[in-house]
Amino acid sequence: MDHIRYALSTGQSGRNGLADVRFVHNPLPDTSLDHISLHTRIGELVLSSPILINAMTGGAEETESLNYAFGEAARAAGVAMAVGSQMAAVRDPVLAATYAAARRANPDGVLFANLGSEATPDQAMRAVEMIEADALQIHLNVVQELVMPEGDRDFTGALRRIERIARAVGVPVVAKEVGFGMTAEAAGRLFEAGVAAVDCGGSGGTNFAAVENARRDKPIDWFDDWGIPTAASLLEAGAASPSGSLIGSGGIRTGLEAAKAIALGADAVGVAGAFLRVLREEGTEALAAAIRAMHDELRLVMAAVGARTVAELRRAPVVVGGDTAVWCAARGIDASKLARRSIRSRTE
Ligand code: FNR
Repeated sequence: MDHIRYALSTGQSGRNGLADVRFVHNPLPDTSLDHISLHTRIGELVLSSPILINAMTGGAEETESLNYAFGEAARAAGVAMAVGSQMAAVRDPVLAATYAAARRANPDGVLFANLGSEATPDQAMRAVEMIEADALQIHLNVVQELVMPEGDRDFTGALRRIERIARAVGVPVVAKEVGFGMTAEAAGRLFEAGVAAVDCGGSGGTNFAAVENARRDKPIDWFDDWGIPTAASLLEAGAASPSGSLIGSGGIRTGLEAAKAIALGADAVGVAGAFLRVLREEGTEALAAAIRAMHDELRLVMAAVGARTVAELRRAPVVVGGDTAVWCAARGIDASKLARRSIRSRTE
């Protein structure tokens, strides 16, 4: 409940780097708004929308109604959803109902389980069974743990544990950062370890250093500015494995930002803090309406750039400038090629 309270009070800086990305307008898009498909894939999972309600909650009494409400909104808007870290319920099965509420609200929906990289394969299987999950997220949150007074201090062996989980669990595994960003090197190693997707979790959205600092007597404030913004983080992850699935997240609030994340390589887009705010301030129906509005905005962008599918939007030409371009140049990532590509060959 602290995380929910402080995520709302610390807010989002908006410095996710997506303002550095501009679509190349297409005066001859050859699209019809009625024929745009929002279907996408994460590994072998087929989703009817690229928007995902990202992992947030569970484990405390009040979180059962929150997970139920997120589940209802996910069903009403036709999007996938992740529950928050299930370690509390793996340790104390009485708490399982606070997560399973999401499945009760949305029996046929796509649901992601969630655990940290300290989990064992057996715990991962229990988390998946607990909510009949279609996939499992393993979160990577080193900076959050370091700032958290009661956080972990030993980060050895995470990759090997993720590899064992990916082999054992029987559903696609997503490795996700929680807002400090991904690198090409880490994404490459995660794909080699067998994950189906990497969620780049860039900075610029919910800031877990600020959230944990709000809970500390002596804040470690300089961690508040830590991390790789979402735009650079996606380009990093994409440089590692152009064929693996990517999820873009970190401060995404609008359909336009979701579209930009997709054009930077994301197959799907995770939203946490912005959806939490709508749910808490306006309720479940307002959240479903906000997600539908994001879908509408996404379709408008796709019509304007000439993309009929999410896969085509991933190939839409974009110009990357500002700090994101500086970052890419320094890191040896050729972002200029994104400006010179085209969605379809001329003969299509
Ligand atoms: C989170 N997030 C999160 N992630 C995770 O993998 N397991 C978790 O238990 C939680 N818990 C959690 C609680 C709350 C209140 C929030 C707002 C977020 C992180 C979340 O899934 C996401 O990675 C980050 O919040 C960045 O996305 P946004 O919020 O900028 O859209």
